[in-house]
Parts: sequence; structure tokens; C-alpha cells
Amino acid sequence: MMSLIDPRELRSAFGAFITGVTVVTTRDSSGSPIGFTANSFSSVSLDPPLLLVCPGRFLSSFEVFSNCSHFAISVLAEGQEQISNIFAGFKGDRFARISHEADENGVPVVSGAAASFSCATEQVIPAGDHCILVGRVIGFSHSAKRGLGYSGGHYFSLGMERAAAEEPGQRQIAGVIVECEGDVLLHKADGGYRPIQIELDGSVPIRTALADHLSASGLNVTLGRVYSIFSERKGGRRHCYLLASAKGSDFPGCERVRASRLRELEYESPALRDMMTRYGLETQTGNFSLYIGDDQQGDIHSQD
Ligand SMILES: Cc1cc2nc3c(=O)[nH]c(=O)nc-3n(C[C@H](O)[C@H](O)[C@H](O)COP(=O)(O)O)c2cc1C
Repeated sequence: MMSLIDPRELRSAFGAFITGVTVVTTRDSSGSPIGFTANSFSSVSLDPPLLLVCPGRFLSSFEVFSNCSHFAISVLAEGQEQISNIFAGFKGDRFARISHEADENGVPVVSGAAASFSCATEQVIPAGDHCILVGRVIGFSHSAKRGLGYSGGHYFSLGMERAAAEEPGQRQIAGVIVECEGDVLLHKADGGYRPIQIELDGSVPIRTALADHLSASGLNVTLGRVYSIFSERKGGRRHCYLLASAKGSDFPGCERVRASRLRELEYESPALRDMMTRYGLETQTGNFSLYIGDDQQGDIHSQD
């Protein structure tokens, strides 16, 4: 029977559910540590203390996880995107690249995580192309750190956004650097290029205002995390730019520019030129940092 469900669309729809990011770990029969990144984590029960995560059958470690007696979940903290990327894609020794420690069962947990849970396997339930691994929590720890967020295929850091981007009562420019298949969508005005942006008075949260503006402009865009926050030394306005990705081919009023060409363009201001040049460079590695400062000087926060 032909399925009416398009798996790609379904994956995008599932991606609308905002989650945290975890690394699931155990040891194989030879004692080697193994792990993968998962956002299918959920708390289940307080009494008895249970949680779940869903390993996919496609994982090289699927057999090990579906037969393990113990496993651990590390809830990644803001700034640990790189650890998520390592446990989602790196094919060598993932543990050699991060700092970790052993829990009470000898299972490695990620150092500096927002929380970690040591579990004994309670149940393994087959579920389509995944299984549901239910763990009984036998030990846990948590810190004051905020968890890393994940939505629509992008990481975000709610803490930094809240602290820096959503201060009411201030005039601000809210913008998005929208990526589409290796291109970036830009507006060309008289003074040069600039990302899609709007001016706000601070009464509406930036994300809400941008999402409304983009959908009113007919753009199918998924907003990601904050990329740059800077204030004008002279004008007094604050600028906040988010990363975003777009689907489709029709982008009214926008020009598509290859990311590799971004540093060649003329921009409306030196601050925009610096930001777009940094973005062009960072697309080569996929490690996007966060700039916080003013339009002349500031700090680049690595998200590793
Ligand atoms: C944010 C994020 C969440 C993920 N969540 C899951 C998940 O819940 N279950 C899963 O099986 N894979 C998930 N993956 C994919 C796995 O991490 C990835 O396929 C795995 O590390 C590949 O490991 P392997 O090379 O050992 O097969 C996720 C990846 C990312 C980036």
C-alpha cells in the first residue's frame, strides 16, 4: 500500500517540536565506550524513576544499545553544540575528542553537562525504525547550567537570547541571516546589501516579530539561534541577528548570494560587513559563533 506520509515532510514536522540535546552512552561487550546524540529523550516517571530515549536501527551501535544492561544520558549545556556534532557524525573515537568522566556503573558521561542520568535498562520496546529504550534512573546530577536547545534542525541558546536580545523598551533592528542550499538571502538597498531585517521598539519579542514578518512576506523560513548582537555607538539602536534556513525557490525582494561570495559585497555598514564575512567563513566549517558587543568592538563566543 502506498503511504500518504512523506518521510521528509514528517521529519520536518517532528522538528517543529523544540527539544534539548542529549548524548546517550554505554559500553560494548569489549568495554569500549560508545555514544550517540539524541533529542528523543523524555522523562517518563518519578516513582519509579524512569526515562526514555529512542535509538534508531540505523545506528552502528543499535545492537549494543538494545541489549545493554546500563546506559547514561548527558543533557548537553549551552555551548556544547560541538559535542553534539561529534556524537552525531564523527566516525572515529568520539570520546577522545571530549572531556568525560565515569558514572557509578563505569559508563562515561559528558563533563560540564547540564544534567546526567545513570540508568539500568528497564525495558526495550521495538518501535518501527527505532526502539524505545526505557531506563530506571539509579543516579543523577544536575548543575545550574542551561540546557542547549534544538529546533527545526538548529541549535539555540535560550539563556543568551533572553539575556541579550529581549530587553523591552529599546529600539532595535531584528534580522535574519537566511540560508538556502548554500546561498544567503539578502536585500540590496541604496547603501549596499543587508540581511532581511525589521525595526522594533522592543514591545514584541524578537522571534515572534521576525516569524510574523517572514510569514507575512511569504517566506518559508525556520528560525535558528542568535548569531550577532551589537549596539550602535552613535545611533543607540541594538541589532540582533538570528540564523535561519529557508525552503523553496521564490524569495520576493531578496537576492540569493553564494556564501563564498559574501565577503566581496558592499554592505550598508562596516558592522554588517564584518558579520557577513564571519558568516561566510563559518559556513565552511559549520561552527557558528556568537558575537556580542557594539558596532566596532566585541567578543566572539565560540559555541564549541
Ligand atoms: C540533534 C540531534 C538529535 C538526534 N537524535 C537522535 C535520536 O533521538 N535517535 C537516534 O537514533 N539518532 C539521533 N540522531 C542521529 C544520531 O546522533 C547519529 O545518527 C549517530 O550519532 C550516528 O552514529 P553512528 O555513526 O555510530 O551510526 C540525532 C542527531 C542530532 C544532531
